[in-house]
Amino acid sequence: MKLIFASNNLHKIEEIRSYFGEGFEFITMKEAGIDIDIPEPHETLEENAREKSTTIFRLTQQNCFSEDTGLEVDALNGEPGVKSARYSGEDRNYARNTNYLLQKMDGITNRAARFRAVASLIMDGKEYQFEGVCEGSITTETYGDKGFGYDPVFKPEGSTFTFAEMSLEEKNKYNHRRIAIEKMAEFLKNRR
Ligand code: IMP
Repeated sequence: MKLIFASNNLHKIEEIRSYFGEGFEFITMKEAGIDIDIPEPHETLEENAREKSTTIFRLTQQNCFSEDTGLEVDALNGEPGVKSARYSGEDRNYARNTNYLLQKMDGITNRAARFRAVASLIMDGKEYQFEGVCEGSITTETYGDKGFGYDPVFKPEGSTFTFAEMSLEEKNKYNHRRIAIEKMAEFLKNRR
């Protein structure tokens, strides 16, 4: 079964390739010959994930999926949440977003946070959503240089290391995105 993944994010593509279910294959937008930047104009991860998958479905009429993630920090009332990519400005700069978050959290002792991923699958024209959550905390400085986004300041529950200090294999033990995508793969398996 072949699906189009509605994203141009090379980090996400690499990650999802590392755990995508056996018997399923996905191709990137680039491989499908689609060269657009899909907007994320909505106030929720669910709506933005749907926007991405339905945009690709409208263009191709093919089965496809997307994924939208937000980092939700308790002490910041769930921020940056749906604004995670553009927290410190429109140009989606990972390092600046991370530093901006650390500044906002300066002096705050409640460091609890979670990554929440929502996958949106369009299968035979119908949409299905799957959620993956990883609970953890925000460190007070950056640690590690692997991964992407907020990985250097996010320590998953049960680990003494941030995501950016882990190999991809290790990150996948906790990975919010893996949880959402594996739920989707399970759903697809049961439909066959
Ligand atoms: P989006 O799902 O592409 O909208 O992702 C929003 C933002 O969340 C990204 O730009 C990253 O900064 C951040 N993000 C998403 N997934 C991860 C992750 O696995 N680790 C660290 N940051 C992430």
